Amino acid sequence: MPTLEGKSVAVTGGAGFIGSHLIDALIEKRPSRLAVLDNFFLGNRDNLRDAISRLPGLEIVDQDVTDMAAVRRFFEARSVDAVFDLATIPLPASLERPHWSSKVICDLALNLCELCREGAFHTLIHCSSSEAYGSAQYVPMEENHPLKTETPYAAAKAAAALLVESYHRTFGIDMAIGRPFNNFGPRQNGRDFSGIIPRLIQRILRGETPVIFGDGQQTRDYLYATDTARGLILLYETDAARGQTINLASGREVSVLQIVRDVSRLMDWTQPPRFDPPRPADVRRHCASVEKARRLLSFSSAVSWEDGIARTVRWYREHPERLKG
Ligand SMILES: NC(=O)c1ccc[n+]([C@@H]2O[C@H](COP(=O)([O-])OP(=O)(O)OC[C@H]3O[C@@H](n4cnc5c(N)ncnc54)[C@H](O)[C@@H]3O)[C@@H](O)[C@H]2O)c1
Repeated sequence: MPTLEGKSVAVTGGAGFIGSHLIDALIEKRPSRLAVLDNFFLGNRDNLRDAISRLPGLEIVDQDVTDMAAVRRFFEARSVDAVFDLATIPLPASLERPHWSSKVICDLALNLCELCREGAFHTLIHCSSSEAYGSAQYVPMEENHPLKTETPYAAAKAAAALLVESYHRTFGIDMAIGRPFNNFGPRQNGRDFSGIIPRLIQRILRGETPVIFGDGQQTRDYLYATDTARGLILLYETDAARGQTINLASGREVSVLQIVRDVSRLMDWTQPPRFDPPRPADVRRHCASVEKARRLLSFSSAVSWEDGIARTVRWYREHPERLKG
C-alpha cells in the first residue's frame, strides 16, 4: 500500500479552502517534505497558520501553476513523489470571466499531466468536481453519470478530469481523481466569488435578509472539508484507486431552503428569506452514489451536516474578518 510517510509532496491550491485542510491532514502523515504551490488568487496565508506552527519547514511557494516553465523549474529543483492538484478558479468567477477561467482550469491540469508524463514527479491526485456531472439525470449519481455540464466552470472541470484520464490511458501516468461534491467548513473563501454558506452567514451578521435564488428546492450533497481531505489522501494510499475517478460525498441531499433554515436557526435569525430570480445554469439536484468510495477506499463521511454546519457557523462568527467587509 503506498504510504505518504517519508515522501515529498506538493499541493497546488494549498492555501485555499480544501487545500489548507489537506495540508493539515498531510502533516499527520509525516512526509519528508511538504510544499504549497499557490498564486494567492483566492488563497490566504491565514489558512496555513496552524500548519506552519506544526511544520515550520512547510514550503509556501507563491507560484502561478499555469506558468509551465516556472513550475518545471520548481520540480527540477526538488524531488517530488506526489502532487495533489487542487488549484482552481471558482464557479462564480466563471460567470464573470468565462474564457479566462476555463482556460486557467484546463491549463492547471494539463501542465501537471505533462510534467508527470515527463517524470517530474511520480503520482498525480487530481481534484475534480461534481459540477462536471451537471444536474442529476438520476440519483444517486455514480461515476458513470453523464457529464452534462451547465457552466463554463463545470465544463472546464470536466475537461480537466478527462485530460488526466487520457494521460493515464495514453501515457500510463500514475494518477487518481477525486470528485468531491459540495464542500463546507471553516476557511471557505468568504470574500470575492464566495459560496452560499459564507454569503448567508455574512448577510445575517450584517442584519440583512438572506437571499435565495430560485425556489430554494435545488439540492446539493455536502461533505465537510476535513472529510474531503481524508478522501484525497486515501486515493493516494489505495492501489485499487489508481486510474480511477471516485466520488467524495456524503450521499445525502440538502436543499438550499434547508441550508437557509439551519443557518438562520444557528444564528437566531427569525425573519423569512427573500426569493430572487434563479441564477443562470444553476444545478437543480445533486446526490452522489458513495458506493465506489466505500468499496475501494473504505471511505464514508465522518462529519454530519448538522454537526458540520454548527462548526462552520461558529468558525465564521469567530473570524468575521474572513467575510467580505
Ligand atoms: N469548494 C467546493 O465546494 C468544491 C466542490 C467540489 C470540488 N471542488 C474542487 O476542490 C478544489 C479546491 O477548491 P476550493 O474550494 O478549496 O477552492 P479555493 O478557491 O478555496 O482554492 C483554490 C486555490 O487555488 C489557487 N489558485 C487559483 N489559480 C491558481 C494558479 N493559476 N496557480 C496556483 N494556484 C492557483 C487559489 O489561490 C486558491 O488558494 C478545486 O479543484 C475545486 O474545483 C471544490
